[in-house]
Amino acid sequence: MSAHTVTHSVDLQPLHTFGLPARARELRLLANTADLLAFARARQEQKDFLLLGEGSNTVFTTPQVDATVWKVALLGRQYLGCDGVHHHLRVQAGENWHHTVEWTVAMGWGGLENLALIPGCVGASPVQNIGAYGVELKDRISAVHAFDLDLQVLRTFSRDECEFAYRDSVFKHVAQGRYVITAVDFALPVQWQPVLGYGDVARRVSDLGILSPMNVLKAISAIRTEKLPDPAVLGNSGSFFKNPIVDTAKAQALIQQYPNLVNYPADHGKVKLAAGWLIEQCGLKGQVLGGVGVYSKQALILVNLGSGTGGDLLQLVQHVQSSVQRKFGVLIEPEPNLIQA
Ligand code: FAD
Ligand code: EPU
Repeated sequence: MSAHTVTHSVDLQPLHTFGLPARARELRLLANTADLLAFARARQEQKDFLLLGEGSNTVFTTPQVDATVWKVALLGRQYLGCDGVHHHLRVQAGENWHHTVEWTVAMGWGGLENLALIPGCVGASPVQNIGAYGVELKDRISAVHAFDLDLQVLRTFSRDECEFAYRDSVFKHVAQGRYVITAVDFALPVQWQPVLGYGDVARRVSDLGILSPMNVLKAISAIRTEKLPDPAVLGNSGSFFKNPIVDTAKAQALIQQYPNLVNYPADHGKVKLAAGWLIEQCGLKGQVLGGVGVYSKQALILVNLGSGTGGDLLQLVQHVQSSVQRKFGVLIEPEPNLIQA
């Protein structure tokens, strides 16, 4: 498809990993500056729009999406140089995330290996500050480049300006809808420091032999493949809920009542709870509602059993949320972007 090609009445089922049936009015690609300007003009004309990467954190819950879907397709990776402390790289937004991680590790630049096998594209990675196995994107990023749809100019966000937090950034708040992320700059340490503290990562790496970024990538990939359903086989969006963060008093009260409560220290003296554990304790693991269900091996993941509809999913989400709220008095919020109109 060339950059300016428009596809009308487009099937969205293969364009998001949860794979619910949905169609959009049209699909356009954002592959160059002319496309970005066309997007800005359409937005000024008040045309409804949706920005999409690889659809692994987006769920289309209605059969008809009355909007133009703009899919990011900016490509290219560049080594900017080394200042003795960091290797500096720039990666365009449409590049696949996991292929980018593989590329850095193959080139001998460690730092992104714990984030291996996360689906999606590079441009979406700062939006929710992707994280896994003890590393978050914010630990490895130096800047985010974005096209300002209001002013029609490129702008660079420093790391601080991105306001990264757990599954959060400025791109989910004031910057949401105004900027298209065009590229991400990474700063990867010349002196590689492995991060092995999460779960049994250290043991899995040592089973592979030498301690290297490649073996960490392999160990993380193996753990993820065992634990998470492959969206090509069973539609899903990864963790469907964020792990809730509560204050110390609430956490202590819960620990008194449930001594096995899984919890971790979070920023500002707060406590993060494992939503998967909370959901499992409600007896919901493996539960099916219509064509969707709670994954039988990991309760934080909701899955499309093949015939799922947006209605089924929204009902299940509500059921899971109210069960956790009733039993623990904790609100769990969806992680993916639920498109409801
Ligand atoms: P999309 O779903 O296409 O978009 C997500 C959001 O970003 C949307 O709001 C969209 O409008 C916006 N967006 C996309 N591109 C741009 C851009 N260029 N500029 C501005 N906004 C943009 N996440 C984790 O953090 N850790 C995990 O371990 C993890 N594991 C997962 C495992 C599975 C099996 C799946 C299916 C998902 C997992 N996820 C995980 C969630 C998901 O992979 C990430 O959120 C990923 O970054 C989404 O990328 P995407 O291109 O698919 O985004
Ligand atoms: N748990 C249960 N029952 C379950 C699922 C989990 O008891 O059914 C317990 C586990 O035993 C463990 C704890 O909950 O003690 C945490 O589980 P896990 O290590 O599987 O991690 P998670 O909290 O479910 C988070 C991220 C994942 C990320 C992994 C690894 C969120 C919302 N999810 O999952 O990210 O890959 O940690 O770092 O923070 C995603 O965001 O889509 C995603 C997959």
